[in-house]
Amino acid sequence: MGKKLLMIIAAIALLVIGAFGGMKFAGDNRTTIVGDTSRYSVASQEGGALTRSVGGSGTGTVHEVRDGDSIQAAVAAASQGDVIRVFPGTYSETVYIDKDDLVISGVVLDNQWPIMEGNKELNDAVLYSGNDITIENLQIQHYKGNAIMGQAGNNFLIRNNNVIDTGVYGIFPEFGTNGLITHNVLSGIEDAAIYVGMCDNIHVTNNEVFDNVAGIEIENTRHSIVENNYVHDNTGGILVFITPGLPIKTTYDTIVRNNFVVNNNTPNFGIPGSTVAGIPAGTGILNMAGDQTTIEGNVITGNKTIGILITDHMNAPNVTLDPGADPNSDEIAILDNMMWNNGYDTIPEITALKTIELVDGDVQILNIGTSTGSCILDPDRYVTVGLKRFGTCGFTTTAQVTTYLLDEPAERREIAAEDMGKRAYYGVCAGCHAYNIKMIGPPTQIIQALYMDNPQGIVDYITDPVKKRDDYPEMPPQNYLSEEVRMAAAEYMLQVTN
Ligand code: HEC
Repeated sequence: MGKKLLMIIAAIALLVIGAFGGMKFAGDNRTTIVGDTSRYSVASQEGGALTRSVGGSGTGTVHEVRDGDSIQAAVAAASQGDVIRVFPGTYSETVYIDKDDLVISGVVLDNQWPIMEGNKELNDAVLYSGNDITIENLQIQHYKGNAIMGQAGNNFLIRNNNVIDTGVYGIFPEFGTNGLITHNVLSGIEDAAIYVGMCDNIHVTNNEVFDNVAGIEIENTRHSIVENNYVHDNTGGILVFITPGLPIKTTYDTIVRNNFVVNNNTPNFGIPGSTVAGIPAGTGILNMAGDQTTIEGNVITGNKTIGILITDHMNAPNVTLDPGADPNSDEIAILDNMMWNNGYDTIPEITALKTIELVDGDVQILNIGTSTGSCILDPDRYVTVGLKRFGTCGFTTTAQVTTYLLDEPAERREIAAEDMGKRAYYGVCAGCHAYNIKMIGPPTQIIQALYMDNPQGIVDYITDPVKKRDDYPEMPPQNYLSEEVRMAAAEYMLQVTN
């Protein structure tokens, strides 16, 4: 949190005093009922099991991989529908999956796991771009980039993996539709442990995330449910975001319910300048610019800065505005949550806002910035700041919605020749490069200025990157992409305009 934020807070303070001067009691303005009742009145979907439309079919041949073999070799030999069973052993490799309908299934025997070991030398453990992929029962540790990254694959199932210290991201599906992430345990990740980026129809349930900078992050994603996760001892617990500068510009319809969000006070060890590096340690649930986020039934306790923080882009550190993305958090619904002992050792900015509103006690819920159509069910249960304009909610539960996963698998994303560059850029490059803000890598705008009409120069760089900047990590080589795809991505990167 920097000077900029303090200045903005001071400006808002003046506005708040202007708007609410003379008004003393928080409850005064809450007769309005907001919240779209119809949003959650749909009948639950048929079929019960969440896995009905995700993952590989497992109808083909079974391949066995044993200690000393290569998983990649088995993937190369497999065809659609096949299952690759990985037995206990240590596998130091990166596995690229560019086929559809495959199951990679670890076999855990006598508590011995198959271990993918990056030795802090390899970047990624598993990169998939196929559709209908299952990845399960693997212990993945000590990589530098990602444990499991999805690049535009639909209908994914990622479950029961143990992910330890795999660098920037843990489980990171990007640009996929219809995916389930369940029963994974992740720790020691320096950005987001579970990072859902530019996806639709996602379910994140029954995972445990701890000792990460961000526990679970839903970014530029629509129709997702985050439920029944144990999110503890991260810097920030659960984040619902719009990251500006990405090609997909919205986050909406997110349900965050029945999670345990506990003691997320770990000092921030995020990469300096990255969005998550701006999160104050001690943040339970953070919504930044996401719309229609419903927060229900969570147990939120021991987060020293704040239990629930709703903010817009203007008040967030490390964020540059994107004219194409709505910066406000609108239609937020805070239903019943169990909250206690949050905000007990907060940041000066929150203390200042509290003082302005003449609020006593530790702040559990803070809204900063304009938030239209938002509501809170039972405001007097919590100490809140900035929620005077939140109305009463027109609905009390989201229980009717069991999942946003699709009844039938989404159509497989095929790569038309003319879409190859766009897909690679969205699915791979945009994980680290946003248009005009610093993410993990430098902004695309800067790269455009450097390379102008020289896509071959980009291809050469990404094939074998050299370290150029002190304030950025090394870029991992992209030589697993074919020459053709690298060129298409480079050309797309040079012409993209937002
Ligand atoms: C895991 C993160 C990551 C991914 C994925 C990624 N990059 Fe990068 N990229 C970086 C980082 C970090 C740097 C800065 C490296 C440095 O300056 O040492 C960088 C730098 C660059 C540069 C600048 C080179 C220069 O001369 O300054 C180009 C061009 C580039 N990336 C293109 C791409 C393309 C194209 C893709 C997709 C195919 C891509 N990157 C995917 C992280 C990434």
